[in-house]
Amino acid sequence: MLRTHTSAHQRQALQTGAEKFLISADVYRRDEIDTCHYPVFHQMEGVQIFSINKAIEEIAYDMQISTSQQHCHINTDDNTVISITNPIQSCHPIEIANAITSHLKYSLNELVKMLFIDEKNLQVRWVDAYFPFTSPSWEMEIFYQGKWLEVCGCGVITQDILNNAGQSDKIGWAFGLGLERIAMVLFNIPDIRLFWSKDPRFINQFTSNEIIKFKPFSKYPSCIKDLSFWMNNDKEHEFHITNFCEIVRDIAEDLVEDVKLVDDFMHPKTKKRSLCFRINYRSMDRTCTNEEINGIQDKIRKSVAEKLDVTLR
Ligand code: DAH
Repeated sequence: MLRTHTSAHQRQALQTGAEKFLISADVYRRDEIDTCHYPVFHQMEGVQIFSINKAIEEIAYDMQISTSQQHCHINTDDNTVISITNPIQSCHPIEIANAITSHLKYSLNELVKMLFIDEKNLQVRWVDAYFPFTSPSWEMEIFYQGKWLEVCGCGVITQDILNNAGQSDKIGWAFGLGLERIAMVLFNIPDIRLFWSKDPRFINQFTSNEIIKFKPFSKYPSCIKDLSFWMNNDKEHEFHITNFCEIVRDIAEDLVEDVKLVDDFMHPKTKKRSLCFRINYRSMDRTCTNEEINGIQDKIRKSVAEKLDVTLR
């Protein structure tokens, strides 16, 4: 079975008794289609645990001896607050949970400052999040190409995970970094599909161990096609945009830049729901012909009608 995230290996690594570790791996998801989602990507998981009764001192010491990137101009905005929707675990003393939180946020803020030291106007923010394996939980976002891009999920590890891994006297934090997304910001890559490109105009721009800003070679024309359908009343609740995107990916592969839901309409009398998706086709390395795209669109229409049990409009 393909892993959807590197957090799947936390327990295994914790069972070895390691107090801190990183795990990097390829991960697989059925996601939406746009310039920052791809069905395969890479994550780096980071974990650090402390003895519950020594955590406060160890954290204070660690933060004191580490060389902070204080001179760095990057602001890492944090307006998050602990609340019932993002609580401290009831088994954790508040002061210890707070120390773990500070250490986690400090470590990630320092990482961002170190990585993006040469970035002039980087905007970074923390937002509240939910993950089934941490509480409280947060996401770190970077403003890129006009949108907030999630680059990391993190939080205080759910105590059950530590207990089940034989580490019940420990408390700790974990994070999962999206490596392509970090690389997109660092190298100025506009579309995540480019990481899979074999085009020498892309590959030859980079040298290992150097951060080089990508120079776009050409943007090929896009071709936009809408696809709309009526849903079957009784199947409505089973539908998610990723069901649609999976079919688009299977057929059009890397030719689609993004898919957007542009209309969601409920017929007032029949109560039937109609959806309209806009597929934006654009190759990364060539101009597509209208015939080629029409052929693909036709196949997608047939497959959508068959697999999603909907009536095309
Ligand atoms: N696994 C999460 C994801 O893929 C990211 C994440 C969140 C990793 C919280 C963690 C964590 O280690 O503690 O979206």
